[in-house]
Amino acid sequence: MTSGSAVLATDPLTLADVEDRARAVLAPEVYDFVAGGSGGESTLNANRSAFDRCHLVPRVLSGVDTADTRTTLLGVPASMPVAVAPMAFHSLVHPDGEPAVSRAAAAAGVPFTAATLASCPLDELASAGGDLFLQLYWLRDRARTEWLIGEAERLGARALILTVDVPFMGRRLRDLRNGFAVPAHAAPVNLADGQRGGGQSVGGHAASVIDPTLSWSDVDRVRRRTRLPLVLKGVLDPADARRAVDLGVDGLVVSNHGGRQLDGAVPSLLALPAIRDEVGDACEVLLDSGVRSGTDVLRALALGASGVLLGRPVLWGLASGGEQGVTGVLELLRSELEVSMALAGAPNVAAAGWLGVRWGSGAYGREES
Ligand SMILES: Cc1cc2nc3c(=O)[nH]c(=O)nc-3n(C[C@H](O)[C@H](O)[C@H](O)COP(=O)(O)O)c2cc1C
Repeated sequence: MTSGSAVLATDPLTLADVEDRARAVLAPEVYDFVAGGSGGESTLNANRSAFDRCHLVPRVLSGVDTADTRTTLLGVPASMPVAVAPMAFHSLVHPDGEPAVSRAAAAAGVPFTAATLASCPLDELASAGGDLFLQLYWLRDRARTEWLIGEAERLGARALILTVDVPFMGRRLRDLRNGFAVPAHAAPVNLADGQRGGGQSVGGHAASVIDPTLSWSDVDRVRRRTRLPLVLKGVLDPADARRAVDLGVDGLVVSNHGGRQLDGAVPSLLALPAIRDEVGDACEVLLDSGVRSGTDVLRALALGASGVLLGRPVLWGLASGGEQGVTGVLELLRSELEVSMALAGAPNVAAAGWLGVRWGSGAYGREES
């Protein structure tokens, strides 16, 4: 597709429109579980403000009529520098759940990350035909943790993404007010029998299964245990990034978990440049938390990201349109990115990394609710 044709009307026009459609069909407590953050949601909102304050400096006269969004992520070819973020319990928002999302991701040419708390068996996700990453929670049940790593290897997953910012769940006030518990049809079926949390609150269940003592020596152990590319998700401090690289980690996700863990944590976009400066080219640096448009992807690239993970908008697509809804979200993001890159004078992903950025002082756009 040329960038010229990409500016034509699409349906939906924006990812915010997809969220509106999802909100209209979801039960309020399910919408809140997905949309919400922890505490006063200051980090959730700051993630968006950071993107709004980040101004790109376009290059002109570069003769760019089309932009090539293709890249590789953790050694995997991708149609754009985007992968689906790990998110628990897809079946909460649509009966087709994770298989629909993994098929849409495969068709769009982007990696899909299966969550430890997925509501569908992992081997069903491996058969979607696309590239699979597996997100790992460090479980109290060490045998199950070991089983998950073995499954990732057996199923041909292309990377293991160890989440390091969840010793336990942040206080999600919306869920507490709603008395939210994951219904049986969305249970985390990849956990051992008896550990799937029937009727428990999400936070209570997480506390019962996730081991809060995860530390650097465990990362070292996982590094020695598997030859899969290993990624730490939830790093915000350059000193932690350095330590990860020194242990032989292949990638980092600069992330505050979409504002769902430490309320008050720095927006990922603001944390990104110092982390890229610290690690240089020693590992891949991905970013998530607040990406809502192709321009946001371009902002992250300009600040040194290798690519981004996309979270909630994928679930909004699933909720409002099943597999097709997710396809719509990924296609929209890709065409927005293509237009933004071409307008910025960046013919490819490498060139996007050289764009200048200026920081404004205020928030101008729509704040996430
Ligand atoms: C409903 C939901 C469930 C999530 N579950 C997980 C999970 O199981 N493991 C994990 O590492 N991150 C999880 N996350 C965090 C995402 O991987 C990602 O960091 C975050 O959603 C990115 O921000 P965004 O939603 O603003 O794009 C979840 C996020 C949401 C919204």
